[in-house]
Amino acid sequence: MVMKQFLLAFAAAVLWSSVESAQSPDFAYYNLSLIWPASFCFSAPKNCIRPIPKIFTINNGLCPTLKNGTALPPYDPVDNNCNYNPAAPADIMKSLAPIKTRLQKTWSNLLNGGSNDLFWQIEWTDQGMCSDYPQDPLTYFTTNLNLAENSKYDPLKALGVQPSSTSAYAISTLLANVKKKVGFYPQISCIIQGSNKLYLREVRFCFKRAKPPTQLQDCPSQMDYVCKSVPTVQQKVIFPPPPATVSSHDASREILASTPNEPNETPTDQGGDIMSPPATASSSSTSYWPNLTCGSLVYIQWGIISLLVLYILARRNRAHEHVD
Ligand SMILES: *[C@@H]1O[C@H](CO)[C@@H](O)[C@H](O)[C@H]1NC(C)=O
Ligand SMILES: *[C@@H]1O[C@H](CO)[C@@H](O)[C@H](O)[C@H]1NC(C)=O
Repeated sequence: MVMKQFLLAFAAAVLWSSVESAQSPDFAYYNLSLIWPASFCFSAPKNCIRPIPKIFTINNGLCPTLKNGTALPPYDPVDNNCNYNPAAPADIMKSLAPIKTRLQKTWSNLLNGGSNDLFWQIEWTDQGMCSDYPQDPLTYFTTNLNLAENSKYDPLKALGVQPSSTSAYAISTLLANVKKKVGFYPQISCIIQGSNKLYLREVRFCFKRAKPPTQLQDCPSQMDYVCKSVPTVQQKVIFPPPPATVSSHDASREILASTPNEPNETPTDQGGDIMSPPATASSSSTSYWPNLTCGSLVYIQWGIISLLVLYILARRNRAHEHVD
């Protein structure tokens, strides 16, 4: 009898633990990174897509972030098995078909020749799989688009200044403008060029964790390490206008017009997630794994053990009944 109770308790514990370990990771908020393509393209003039988008686009989708500002690492079946059986990156493209046009407009790979499909798969691995939508890539991506397309979060309005090729804006002013317009501090990220010249790279909004996330909060730090790497008095960013779109026979002139003043400078791409062109992209695609994660194998093993225990119990019961 004691043995039977023990076995029952054991089976219950095993079943409970496999339910428990399938819970989502413990993060506090999401961070959405909107990038200014003209700044990015200024730092990588030869590799940038044409025409350069004239809107802020998504660079990093809603990223699960701890309270102290540390982003959760990308999903990994061994080292960061954050959610139970998330949709595999290779399988998401079919789900995304209904929103492909919106994605191409607002969430494009800015690198010329870089694959959008691969970019979105990496975004899924880095941000989506540990989010609150592990099995629902369509809703995850749509939620991002809804926020990025909402004029309330459009940095072109919230920053309170126009792109300019002549003036640089104090980052503190831009932050104060956003706080005034949307009620919360964003995080601004910079690209550095030449001798401490900063360009506005991204405006990142922090959303309280919710499904869907809609309520903003102050970001825990308001500048990234690149903006902070220059002395406070130099914390001013150039927010360049995108070059005027020209007809294709004028394309070479457009490229010349948008080439930086210091053409020998090596492109800087700090903290970016934008996919490299195909040559390097193919190597990163080899890191994808089959559908069955190590995590799900563990669950299957425990499931089999539980079934065995229940089977043994049932047989013992029947044996008792025969004896009685
Ligand atoms: C943030 O918190 C996590 C988990 O508590 C910790 O591992 C990480 O080092 C912290 N990061 C910072 C910058 O404090
Ligand atoms: C937002 O996410 C980026 C990565 O996309 C990260 O580098 C940055 O520290 C995060 N910022 C905040 C305020 O959470």
